[in-house]
Amino acid sequence: MEKCIGILTAGGDSPGLNAAIRALGKAADYKYDMHVIGIKDGFRGLMENRLMRLPASELSNILTHGGTILGTSRDKPHRMPVGNKIMDMTDVMVDACIQHHIDCLVCIGGGGTHKNAYRLMQKGLNVVTIPKTIDNDISMTDCTIGFDTALNIATEAIDRLHSTAHSHHRIIVVEIMGHNAGWLTLGAGVAAGADAILIPEIPYDINQVAKAINKRRKEGKHFSIVAVAEGAVAKEEADGLKELLKLKEEAKKKKEIKAAEEKVNKIRAKHVDHTLKIAKQLEKLTALESRVTILGYLQRGGSPSPADRLLATKLGTACAKLIEKGQYGYMVAAKGDGTEPVPLEKVVGKRKTVNTDHPWILSAKDLGTCFGD
Ligand code: F6P
Repeated sequence: MEKCIGILTAGGDSPGLNAAIRALGKAADYKYDMHVIGIKDGFRGLMENRLMRLPASELSNILTHGGTILGTSRDKPHRMPVGNKIMDMTDVMVDACIQHHIDCLVCIGGGGTHKNAYRLMQKGLNVVTIPKTIDNDISMTDCTIGFDTALNIATEAIDRLHSTAHSHHRIIVVEIMGHNAGWLTLGAGVAAGADAILIPEIPYDINQVAKAINKRRKEGKHFSIVAVAEGAVAKEEADGLKELLKLKEEAKKKKEIKAAEEKVNKIRAKHVDHTLKIAKQLEKLTALESRVTILGYLQRGGSPSPADRLLATKLGTACAKLIEKGQYGYMVAAKGDGTEPVPLEKVVGKRKTVNTDHPWILSAKDLGTCFGD
C-alpha cells in the first residue's frame, strides 16, 4: 500500500513555507507514489482532526505565496489549552495519526516545533522535520527557511531609513525580530551599513553607543542608524538575567523554580519597550533628535526570496526521499549545496546563536561599527 504522509506547519509563519509544502507534496506524489494529508493550524489541528487531502494537483500556484496554506499555531502537544484546562495531548495526537493511517508526520517549524515533534517521536510516532524560522537559530543546519527573505526586507528597510536619518540629522533606532538570536539584526545591520548594531549575544553599554554617535558627529556626520535586535539586552540587564537563569537551573524544588521563573518574566516584561528606551537614552546623551521604527511582522510577510524558494524546494524534496526510504526521526538540514539528515535528538534544545567572533562582526568592527561593548 502506498505510504501516507501527514504534514503540518507550526510556530510563526515565514516566507517559503508554501514552497516547502509544494516540494514535499509534489515529489511524494509524482516521484514516490506516496500521498499527502495536510493538517490545519499546527498541532492543534492534529488534535482536533482537522485534516485535508493534499494531492499534487492542489499544490500549483503556491510557490510564491507568503504564509502557509495550512495555517499555523504555537500550541504545544504536551501543554495544550483545552477548554479552561492545560492538558497533555501527545497520546491523542499519536492516536489521531494511527486512525488516519499516517505513516510519517512531517513538522515544518522552528525550535519549539522541533521539540514538539521529538516529544511525539518519543511516544512512538514516525516524524521528520524541516527547519524554518526567520530567526535562523536552529542548530545543525546551515540556514532555515524564511531567514533570507526577512534579511532582504530588514536590509531594504534600513536602506530606506537612511534617507530620513540623513536629511533630518536624526538618530533612527530600528528594531528587528529574531527572538533571542542576533542573526537578522547582524546580517541586515552589516548589509545596510548601520552605525551601531545591538544583538543579544553582545550585551551593550548605552554610553558606548552614544560615544560612537558623538564621534561620528565630530566627523561631520549628523545622523546615525542603530539596528537593535528585539532580544538585545543592556549589560546590567544581562547580568541580572544570567544570575536568575542559573538559579532556576540549579533549583531543585518546584517552588524555587517558580520563584526564579517569575523574576525572569518580570525582567522580560520590562524589556518590552527597550527600543523606545534606547532612543530616549541616546537623545539625552547625544542631543540628536531620535526616532524609532519597529519592523515587526513586515519581516515575515510576502513572497519568499529566490534563495528561500530554492532552500524550501531542496529540503522538501529531500524530505520526501527520506520518508520513501523509511528513515524517520530526522531533521532535513541544509548542508552546503545539498541536504543532510540529522537525528532529531541532536537538534532539540539547542539554539544556534551568533558567535561573538563571527566574520560579519569582525568585518563590521574593522569598519568602525559599534556593537555597544
Ligand atoms: O520566531 C519568529 C518570530 O517572528 C520571532 O522573531 C519573534 O520573536 C516571534 O516570532 C514573534 O512571535 P509571535 O508571532 O507569536 O508574535
